[in-house]
Amino acid sequence: MVLFQAPLPVRYARLSEDELRAGIHSFKDQLGKRLVILGHHYQQDEVIEFADATGDSLKLAQLAAQQTNAEFIVFCGVHFMAESADILTSDAQKVILPDLSAGCSMADMAHIDQVEEAWALLSEHAGGPITPITYVNSSAAVKAFVGRSDGACCTSSNAKMVLEWALQGADPDGDGDAGHKVLFLPDQHLGRNTAYALGWPLDSMVVYDPDEPEGGLTPEQIRAARFILWKGHCSVHQLFNLQQVKSIRALDEPYNVLVHPECAWEVCQRADYVGSTEYIVKTVREAPPDSYWAVGTEVHLVHRLADRLADKHVRLLAGIQCLCTTMYRIDLKHLYWALENLIAGRVVNQIAVDDETKRWSRIALDRMLELAPSQPVSAK
Ligand code: 13P
Ligand code: SF4
Repeated sequence: MVLFQAPLPVRYARLSEDELRAGIHSFKDQLGKRLVILGHHYQQDEVIEFADATGDSLKLAQLAAQQTNAEFIVFCGVHFMAESADILTSDAQKVILPDLSAGCSMADMAHIDQVEEAWALLSEHAGGPITPITYVNSSAAVKAFVGRSDGACCTSSNAKMVLEWALQGADPDGDGDAGHKVLFLPDQHLGRNTAYALGWPLDSMVVYDPDEPEGGLTPEQIRAARFILWKGHCSVHQLFNLQQVKSIRALDEPYNVLVHPECAWEVCQRADYVGSTEYIVKTVREAPPDSYWAVGTEVHLVHRLADRLADKHVRLLAGIQCLCTTMYRIDLKHLYWALENLIAGRVVNQIAVDDETKRWSRIALDRMLELAPSQPVSAK
């Protein structure tokens, strides 16, 4: 969903960084336990400084669900994450996204109308049931559709578990010939990388392109496929390519290549380690001193790892800056503005999912959370 954030009044632009930081500290102190600030790993350092907890999409969804006492959850991340937080918290709690323009281009690649059209076509030609799985990087409407259709959400941390669940449910004997299928939304790369890691060959997968008539697939292709991957991608992770991996391998230093599973299949195949942002943080944090890491994920996280884990050699896999421009929308000014309004008794930029969408999307999210091991609230 593309939302528009009206420009902030000019007085916010005139505040110095010190004034903004002092103001945010003071608003946080005044709001006390009524407020929790959650920050995704791709946020800027200036924002992470104020986060009560940080994490990847899975950890933040679990943390949001645990915030039963906080009246306000300020979500420093993107729109679909704030929607998930609203779905997982009580009606009395308010979720706030400091800048409404913080969307996600991948989530926007699967509009609910396109998904429903695809579902009708795929159901007609599949020759058996299909289990829809949606990456949490999708709208609440798509999650609700998946919940209504007996599917589940997944994140990059638990996609294997969820896919195994879907395949087991679809093929209880595990003999592989039940003819059941998985529709994986909206990131083709996470879907392909995960199914392949579970041992499924590439020719068991087809790509459904919502911009092509009939998804660009023949009825025979749909019938023969085991996985139907939606043609969506992350505009940040698609910037990593094989040439960059080759260039890193050509250096004298013994770099480990560590990438996010939103990267293309051939990049993941040539990497040493593949995993979610939380996995990336843990892997580098626990690596021996003086080890070398070329990391294929969002630049703010990579730079933070390089700064904080200076006993290791951490660099971006690409020579270009791989920036999530929507995550970057959240900054000190917008955080200050959102908190200042809360102090004044006004809730700005509340992300509120309607009740019907909430009911069904919660089913899809709860199925995922039941499968994923829970994460305790932890410091950054
Ligand atoms: P994770 O937080 O699940 O690793 O996903 C990365 C991402 O692209 C978030 O938008
Ligand atoms: Fe969306 Fe990619 Fe940005 Fe994550 S990093 S919010 S998937 S565009």
